[in-house]
Amino acid sequence: MQPTLSVKVWRGGAEGSFSAYEVPRQTSQTVLDVVTHIQRHLEPSLSYRFACRVGMCGSCAMTVNGKACWTCRTHVAKVAGDGGTLEIAPLSNLPVIKDLATDMTSFFDKWARAKGSFAGSTTRHEDFARVAPDSPERRAANAGIECIGCGVCVASCDVVAWRPDYLGPAALNRAWTLVNDVRDTQRSERLRAVAGDAGCHACHTQGSCTERCPKQLAPTVAIAGLKRTVAKAAVRGEL
Ligand code: SF4
Ligand code: SF4
Ligand code: FES
Repeated sequence: MQPTLSVKVWRGGAEGSFSAYEVPRQTSQTVLDVVTHIQRHLEPSLSYRFACRVGMCGSCAMTVNGKACWTCRTHVAKVAGDGGTLEIAPLSNLPVIKDLATDMTSFFDKWARAKGSFAGSTTRHEDFARVAPDSPERRAANAGIECIGCGVCVASCDVVAWRPDYLGPAALNRAWTLVNDVRDTQRSERLRAVAGDAGCHACHTQGSCTERCPKQLAPTVAIAGLKRTVAKAAVRGEL
């Protein structure tokens, strides 16, 4: 193993360029450790984003050697190879604010467009709605519920790159989770929201989102579920 890593890091906005740094290699080092070393010891003005460092908050995603990933849980040993080279850039398909920090506004706007918020009918004065853990509905909702909003899937999706208005895998995965939540009251509105031209039918089912999701979710499966459900609702005249 080389004693140092040769690291190229994106600096500036959309029209920026890569700068090169040498970073000492360490055991169990993560890509986020490398970025943090550069910011603390070599380039104090480097901008990047992280919070939890344990794979929960979703804020540390970047493009590493050409693939989107969460950097706090990505070990250098897995991505740098024997030569010890890393190229670290901001996530694709989102505007760059500066260096490694992207503007997530469109990402969360799409969640809102896909009606990604739960809308129940009970108040805090009523008992909890009970959904059996092993019911098919609960299992279907569970399948996509662990999304941490990291944006890796959106950065990996060719359709988002071609048509920026496409709702994309994260928002559609969220919509499918709520379509399967029997307590939610907005099923028809949500199906209408994802049925449009920029909705679930725009997905080409190639599956980069599912391949790279760090939580092992399957937005491709969620989107296929939406396609089926939207089609059935359309036939019944419910949309
Ligand atoms: S399967 Fe659909 S949502 Fe996922 S990356 Fe491909 S086109 Fe995008
Ligand atoms: S579906 Fe996976 S890749 Fe996409 S935002 Fe959620 S956790 Fe990240
Ligand atoms: S820092 Fe929170 S998921 Fe990586």
